[in-house]
Amino acid sequence: MFTTNIIFIHFLVWVAIHCCDSAWSNGSVVFVILDQEVTPHMETATHLASHLTHQANQLQLNHKIYIASEEWPNVAAWTYIPVLERVSSSHGDNSTWVVLLGERVQVKLTALLDVLQAHNSSQLIFLGRGVSDHQETIIHHYQSVDPDNPFLYPDARFGIVLSTPLVNRLAKMWNDSGGRKQQSEFNIDAAYEFSTLVWSVGVRLTHTSAFCITDRPGCALVYTKLTRCSNKLQTEDIHFAVKSCSHFHEERLPIIQDTWLGDATNHAIYSDVKDSRYGTVSLGVPNTERGHCGKTLAIIRHAAQLSHIQWLAIVDDDTLISVQRLTRLLSCYDPGEYVALGERYGFQATTSHGYDYLTGGAGMVFSKVLVNRLAFPSVCKCPSDDTPDDMFLGICLQRMGLPVIHSPTFHQARPKDYPEALLEGEAPISFHKYWMMNPREAYNLYLHTTPYSPQPGSDDQPVSDSSMAANAQKIHNIDEL
Ligand SMILES: *[C@@H]1O[C@H](CO)[C@@H](O)[C@H](O)[C@H]1NC(C)=O
Ligand SMILES: *[C@@H]1O[C@H](CO)[C@@H](O)[C@H](O)[C@H]1NC(C)=O
Ligand SMILES: *[C@@H]1O[C@H](CO)[C@@H](O)[C@H](O)[C@H]1NC(C)=O
Ligand SMILES: *[C@@H]1O[C@H](CO)[C@@H](O)[C@H](O)[C@H]1NC(C)=O
Repeated sequence: MFTTNIIFIHFLVWVAIHCCDSAWSNGSVVFVILDQEVTPHMETATHLASHLTHQANQLQLNHKIYIASEEWPNVAAWTYIPVLERVSSSHGDNSTWVVLLGERVQVKLTALLDVLQAHNSSQLIFLGRGVSDHQETIIHHYQSVDPDNPFLYPDARFGIVLSTPLVNRLAKMWNDSGGRKQQSEFNIDAAYEFSTLVWSVGVRLTHTSAFCITDRPGCALVYTKLTRCSNKLQTEDIHFAVKSCSHFHEERLPIIQDTWLGDATNHAIYSDVKDSRYGTVSLGVPNTERGHCGKTLAIIRHAAQLSHIQWLAIVDDDTLISVQRLTRLLSCYDPGEYVALGERYGFQATTSHGYDYLTGGAGMVFSKVLVNRLAFPSVCKCPSDDTPDDMFLGICLQRMGLPVIHSPTFHQARPKDYPEALLEGEAPISFHKYWMMNPREAYNLYLHTTPYSPQPGSDDQPVSDSSMAANAQKIHNIDEL
């Protein structure tokens, strides 16, 4: 009996030492969870880290896990570059792979190691869920598109995988150039911009089909769609503030009236003049050609006086938005926390004097406590009425030490400016600009919760892009409401 136990214990020890060390005995993987500094995101990241630790220990994988919001809170980790420099200096000599993980993925480590093992980690390897543009787009600085030789860039929701030699190479290049390698001062689509940087050392993204929107055998990373959250939130709790001006009333306001404005039970259209036809209100700020800082700050100060709201959503008069989906998303956040949410862009974000901001056209959402704070004259005072409002709010938030929270469901551009693959998996919340598209049709296809059927005899242009309709159908299939 006693000896059997001893033998059994020896067996267990042997298993613990030998069972799973496979080919990974010499390799070491650095994971970085690219989360964001706000409660629900940090909770998700902690959960992901512990799940990953558990799997890595079972497989006896040499590894190190960083949570970006804890480790490097004030650098633009979302552009990848600041993270690479840091990982290269502490793990450039003792790791084989660096995995930068999107915050909402589920990791299946055995499958992920299989993916890594299929590549030679001594070489310069860049892996991700590859997507490509089907036409030139403003968000990629109108870079030319060659359909026969598409330029692949990763779906940022999953993150990216880099061999350590590539991390070291990029970090050194970035450091040597003093950070001047970026083509533009603006950080718009970090995954795309990063891919052009990687291409400058002659490396292209290798697409892996193991990064999956929907789980199936062989998936290494699976995207987890946001589920309905428990906070009680009614649409009336969100004040929708539409920025307009007299010049656009006739052209744009009927479109939002025909589409989403009716769903926004608590809204106002702020303009330079009172127009009874559309029920606009004026806050006494003259219109400016561009910028709108004065108008936006006036809206924020006005909203601070509204006692029965929990959130303020500031949108343009040419923003299309799903009120229901926004309500559902906001129910995942605490309106008592400082939250600024939308689509994150950056201005020189990788430098010490740069900052992140919410790009205005996609819609900027602020919790009421943040609205109250931004309304203080000393906190955020426009240099001039025509300073760009969204960028200036980014500067204010940075001065306050507050992060800008990104959701991939907000879009500064039109549906056709994004590869279809990026619109899969999660129902979009906003799109922007009525330029060279039919906004009513785009709203019905992408944002309305009941399927689109064109009205016979209406003046609307026909569905011009058949893939657009197919894609919208996919969105409805995964829609929740
Ligand atoms: C690990 O390193 C040892 C000694 O350097 C070598 O003999 C072995 O083949 C390596 N294993 C793998 C899986 O690379
Ligand atoms: C790699 O080296 C750094 C110091 O250079 C150390 O902090 C880190 O723990 C090491 N990581 C592993 C996985 O050995
Ligand atoms: C991996 O790449 C290195 C560097 O290019 C090369 O020396 C080595 O032979 C390759 N290993 C395999 C197994 O192909
Ligand atoms: C980065 O560049 C600075 C000079 O700009 C240099 O002193 C430093 O050694 C470089 N570091 C690395 C890791 O290349």
